[in-house]
Amino acid sequence: MAVSHETGRVAEGNVVERIQHLADAANPAFAAGSFLVPLAFFAMSFAVASTELLFYTHVAAGAVWFGFALIFPAIIGPTLGGLGEEASAAVTATLVPKAVFFLVGFSLTTVLSGTVLLTADLGFGYGFSETWSSVALGVGWGLFAFGLAVPHRLQLSAYYETLSPDPDASRLEAIEKKNLVVGLFEAAVMLGLIVLMTGFRL
Ligand code: HEM
Repeated sequence: MAVSHETGRVAEGNVVERIQHLADAANPAFAAGSFLVPLAFFAMSFAVASTELLFYTHVAAGAVWFGFALIFPAIIGPTLGGLGEEASAAVTATLVPKAVFFLVGFSLTTVLSGTVLLTADLGFGYGFSETWSSVALGVGWGLFAFGLAVPHRLQLSAYYETLSPDPDASRLEAIEKKNLVVGLFEAAVMLGLIVLMTGFRL
């Protein structure tokens, strides 16, 4: 197999070691940029006190998050499934570290900017106690936490399995199937969330 197995044992390391390993695998500049670029727009909206920029940042980051959540189960997963074992392992080992940093950076920016949009200072002043606001906060941050706890973990277990000395093809296939179900669930919740977002205004 073309993929190096030297780093396979990192799966047993602690969280910091794993993050360091993933950042190296993703390219540290890419990993940092995945957080810094979207969060810079968020920070800039405070610096220039611009509700428009905050809103733009929220919608753009949400669109990237939503797009990725759809593309993973609908296109990337089936494409990997159709590749040979070696090619699939090579793509997984290169793609997963980058995708994880990218998605966490954009999803974090979406929920942070959405939360500030509820405030009166820089946002639209809906407040935190209305039903719409509470549901948006609960579902939005819930989806963010779910992303960290389930789909990212699944992607990472496929990644670590690929790097292990003796990758188990049937385990990789089972992870891919779970990914599809989880991805479809995530996309459905996001569609509901977008209906909820437009409901603020309507
Ligand atoms: C903590 C979670 C979130 C909160 C508190 C939140 C809050 C808001 C608020 C207050 C608005 C402005 C509504 C208006 O136009 O008056 C908005 C708009 C929007 N949000 Fe969120 N949001 C959250 C998460 C998300 C997520 C995860 C997505 C997409 C995946 C998203 C997509 C959108 C879109 C597309 C709009 C524009 C809707 C419109 O203007 O009609 N939001 N959000």
